[in-house]
Amino acid sequence: MELNITKMNDKKTNGIFVTFEGIDGSGKSTQASSLLRKVQESGLNAVLFREPGGTRISEQIRQILLSTKHTEMSSITEVLLYSAARAQLTEEMVIPGLRDNDVVICDRYYDSTTAYQGYGRGIDMEFISALTKEAARKIEPDLTFLVDVDADLAEKRSSTIGRKDRIELENYEFKIRVIQGFRDLAEKFPDRIVILDGSKEVEQLTETAWKKIQTLLEKKGIIINLEANSENI
Ligand code: TYD
Repeated sequence: MELNITKMNDKKTNGIFVTFEGIDGSGKSTQASSLLRKVQESGLNAVLFREPGGTRISEQIRQILLSTKHTEMSSITEVLLYSAARAQLTEEMVIPGLRDNDVVICDRYYDSTTAYQGYGRGIDMEFISALTKEAARKIEPDLTFLVDVDADLAEKRSSTIGRKDRIELENYEFKIRVIQGFRDLAEKFPDRIVILDGSKEVEQLTETAWKKIQTLLEKKGIIINLEANSENI
C-alpha cells in the first residue's frame, strides 16, 4: 500500500532528528540505511550521517579513535575525541541538515557516548552529560531507535565481519555493560527512545520505525495527509 503524502506548504519547516543506537553487531546501520530509503521513497527530503564521522575532520578523528594500533588511548582522550567529532558533525551537517531536510538520520549520536564511555569505560556520567550537551550544541534527537540485541547475538554477527576496530575488540563484559547502558537510557527516556528487537527481520523493523516517524512528522506539521492513496493500492 502506497501512501499519499502531502507536504504542508513550501515554507521550510524544521526537520526532525532521528538517531539509531545499539551495540556493534545489532544491525543498526542496516536499519538506518533501510529507513533512509523508505523516507526518501515517500517523497520526503532525508539525509543520513554516521558517528563518529560525516565530515572531513570527523572522519579523521574516526580513524584515530578506531585504529587498532592505538591501544594506549586513555578513556578521557577517547571521550573527548568522540565529542570533538560530534561537535564538528553537528555544526557542519546536522544543524544545516535540519534546516534543509524533513528528516535527518544519524547512525549513533550521544547515547553511544553514555553507553560506551560511561557504562563501558566508567567515565563520570555528569562529566559526560555536560560534555555531550556542549558537543551536540544542545540539540536533542526527536526520536531514537535502540536496536537491541543480546551480547551473544551481537558477538555472533560481529564475528562474520572481517576486521574489527579498536572498540569492537573489547571483551564480552564491556559489551554487556554497554548493552545495559543502552537499556537503562531507554528506560530513562521512554518518550524519546523506542526499542526495536534486533533479532527480527530488517523490513519488519523498518515498518515499525517508519510508522513512528510518520506520527512525529504529522505532529510537527510536516506531513498533513497520510491517507492511503486508493489508486496505488
Ligand atoms: P560504528 O560506526 O557504529 O561502527 P561500525 O563501522 O563497525 O558500524 O561505530 C564505531 C565505534 O565507535 C563503535 O564500536 C561504537 C563506538 N562509539 C563509542 O564508543 N562512543 C561514541 O560516542 C560513538 C559515537 C561510537
